[in-house]
Amino acid sequence: MKLFRLLPLTLAACLLLAGCGGKEEVSSPKPQVPTATATVTATETATTTATAATTTTKKPTTTTEAPTTEVATTKAPVTEVPTTKKPTAKPTTKAVAPDSVSTSSKGYEIKTVGGVTYVDGVLVANKTYGLPASYYTGGLTADCDRAYDSLKAAAAKAGYSLYISSGFRDYETQEVIYNRYVANDGKANADRYSARPGHSEHQTGLAIDLNGVSDSFGDTPTGKWVAAHCHEYGFILRYPKGKEAQTGYMYEPWHIRYVGKDVAKKIFDSGLCLEEYYGITSEYQN
Ligand code: DAL
Ligand code: ZN
Repeated sequence: MKLFRLLPLTLAACLLLAGCGGKEEVSSPKPQVPTATATVTATETATTTATAATTTTKKPTTTTEAPTTEVATTKAPVTEVPTTKKPTAKPTTKAVAPDSVSTSSKGYEIKTVGGVTYVDGVLVANKTYGLPASYYTGGLTADCDRAYDSLKAAAAKAGYSLYISSGFRDYETQEVIYNRYVANDGKANADRYSARPGHSEHQTGLAIDLNGVSDSFGDTPTGKWVAAHCHEYGFILRYPKGKEAQTGYMYEPWHIRYVGKDVAKKIFDSGLCLEEYYGITSEYQN
């Protein structure tokens, strides 16, 4: 009996001594080292105007305001107009122009207050009239947001679908976008379709890029409907075809600007772009 009991123990000891247990090899994969470097194609053009990182963070984002990179957002959060600089904003290095009042070539008052220019009471941001880096609405203004809701609803009723590809963009976002275009396309080209930081209407919270952000939008039934009706809701097509010399920018059928119903109707009825209507320029000083 005793021998019978000891037999399994003896066998086990032999196996251990002979190394029969075998050591299991654990193979470890090589660490994955990312080698690809993000590249930005140089093919971005005005028609693909993108906004690399469009602003709003409170509503779900969706895109890039353009094929390329412009990150589209859905409607921006409603935020009451200009606050002071947001906490994370970089300090302004540009000196803010002193408050001033002058008259446009068509007799309208041009008033600059705290670096923000109003022509006949309408806030203007273009190549001539910039904004302080600290100008930050944090989203579309309440008025613009409401007007967009009405525009969108009316479009839907007429059978057209609108969405916001890019709404509010702060100074820093515009800086990233513009610099990318300059790097890819050269400054002279970029200046024809992308605003320098501090000069974009998107920083005002009063501008919206609609749908596909492409030239072809103007030829679609939706784009045509927008061009014909957006003034009824307080918007104008800000960069019409054939007005680059006046607006400073190439045709952008997707970019609408909220100016209020009265002004929008007057500008629409005039057949002029905003700069022509008010008799103001849109030119960088350098
Ligand atoms: N694409 C328009 C001009 C902007 O950059 O604000
Ligand atoms: Zn735009």
